[in-house]
Amino acid sequence: MSVIKYSSLLVITFLMALLSFTVESRSHVDVIFHLRKYGNIVSGADVTEALKDAWNDACASLRPSAVVIPKGTFKVREGEFKGPCKSPVEVRVRGTLQAPKHPHGDSWITFAYVDRMTLSGGGVFDGQGKAGWEKNDCHKHISCARLPISLRFNFITNSIVRRITSLDSKNFHVNILGCNNLTFDGVNIIAPEDSPNTDGIHIGRSIGISILKSRIATGDDCISLGDGSKRVKITNVTCGPGHGISIGSLGKYTNEEPVEGVIVKNCTIMNTTNGVRIKTWPASPVAGIATNMHFLDITMVNVSNPILIDQEYCPWNQCNRKIPSKIKINKVSFKNIRGSSATPVAVKLICSSNLPCEEVKVANIDLVYNGIKGSLTSECMNVKPIISGTQNPPICSSSYTTK
Ligand SMILES: *[C@@H]1O[C@H](CO)[C@@H](O)[C@H](O)[C@H]1NC(C)=O
Ligand SMILES: *[C@@H]1O[C@H](CO)[C@@H](O)[C@H](O)[C@H]1NC(C)=O
Ligand SMILES: *[C@@H]1O[C@H](CO)[C@@H](O)[C@H](O)[C@H]1NC(C)=O
Ligand SMILES: *[C@@H]1O[C@H](CO)[C@@H](O)[C@H](O)[C@H]1NC(C)=O
Ligand SMILES: *[C@@H]1O[C@H](CO)[C@@H](O)[C@H](O)[C@H]1NC(C)=O
Repeated sequence: MSVIKYSSLLVITFLMALLSFTVESRSHVDVIFHLRKYGNIVSGADVTEALKDAWNDACASLRPSAVVIPKGTFKVREGEFKGPCKSPVEVRVRGTLQAPKHPHGDSWITFAYVDRMTLSGGGVFDGQGKAGWEKNDCHKHISCARLPISLRFNFITNSIVRRITSLDSKNFHVNILGCNNLTFDGVNIIAPEDSPNTDGIHIGRSIGISILKSRIATGDDCISLGDGSKRVKITNVTCGPGHGISIGSLGKYTNEEPVEGVIVKNCTIMNTTNGVRIKTWPASPVAGIATNMHFLDITMVNVSNPILIDQEYCPWNQCNRKIPSKIKINKVSFKNIRGSSATPVAVKLICSSNLPCEEVKVANIDLVYNGIKGSLTSECMNVKPIISGTQNPPICSSSYTTK
């Protein structure tokens, strides 16, 4: 009996090993469309047309294929890589693709309507943002110069983005819209701390987005989730500098969809202006929902506002703070969050007076204050969190002094 049990255990272990091997191994490719077949591909060349032709051939291939971009630095004026394709396509970027310094339009590289694509290769998408940053004042003004987003994923399904770098985007690095089952794994995102509007990855109206084992250092939110983000998983991500990991802002427009199901787990956030936050505008035109959002096992290093719900988010006084938000926030947890806060108010839970937050759980918060302004505190409005475990600072009570 025990021998049978033991051997079936071996079989199961073997099957599991096989399964994890299949999942880990690179996607199956039958045909290679190397960029060199499409023109005089020397370093410094403009490969816009070659890339378009290679993509069209790959997308029309009846067998799984890959477009290979070799090592070297190449210019790409603009790229729109559209499906549907006949078979899975992998785009392997080994070199560096450079955006034009003086672009037009709101996109640089767009992938759209593709099922089962892989973007990989260890290469770099260089947005050459420096020239445009001083023009980007969209965070202050409604009428502003629109600069291109480096990488757009529109209506992409069952796909993977693995081991690529986005450098110095002019606007957002990555924008995800209308996607279903898209995973980012081992992605690097880099721009200076003072570059405006350079959100790392923005997710909107998408289901089943995972961001795993990635490093994001940029000038705005490392990851931001707009309306209609559902089943989003963010794990093993390092964020900073930047503005942290953010849900929202929500409640500015009339046709917004709910945010449902977000897990942020085992992440390190350092030197950012916020840690994990949920933000909604006051005076929202219609009702909305943000629910089932969980933040756990997070290390904060010198983070301003480490834990934040802000339902009075109103930058540059663009709204009327006196009218409460109509976005209902519930089923939120902050658990096992440790490290250091750069501001004295480490936990701020400011909910709507019209719709208090519900089912907010706060457990094992162990933060110390980095500064000299005295004590570490929390501030709460229109919320009664369920509190357990360590509480440094005490949650939703008065002030607390660190040693
Ligand atoms: C999600 O996409 C991955 C990558 O293509 C695929 O392996 C997996 O089967 C997909 N999951 C579902 C539920 O379709
Ligand atoms: C984080 O990465 C480690 C090491 O690669 C891995 O074992 C673990 O499963 C990952 N954790 C999550 C929550 O994805
Ligand atoms: C947490 O993330 C770090 C950084 O990616 C990784 O090295 C570590 O293995 C992860 N730990 C767990 C328990 O997933
Ligand atoms: C935080 O920023 C300070 C000052 O810019 C820098 O010296 C320090 O190395 C940074 N710390 C981390 C963990 O990135
Ligand atoms: C902490 O952050 C503040 C403000 O962001 C920065 O000025 C300071 O240099 C940082 N300190 C350390 C020790 O990283």
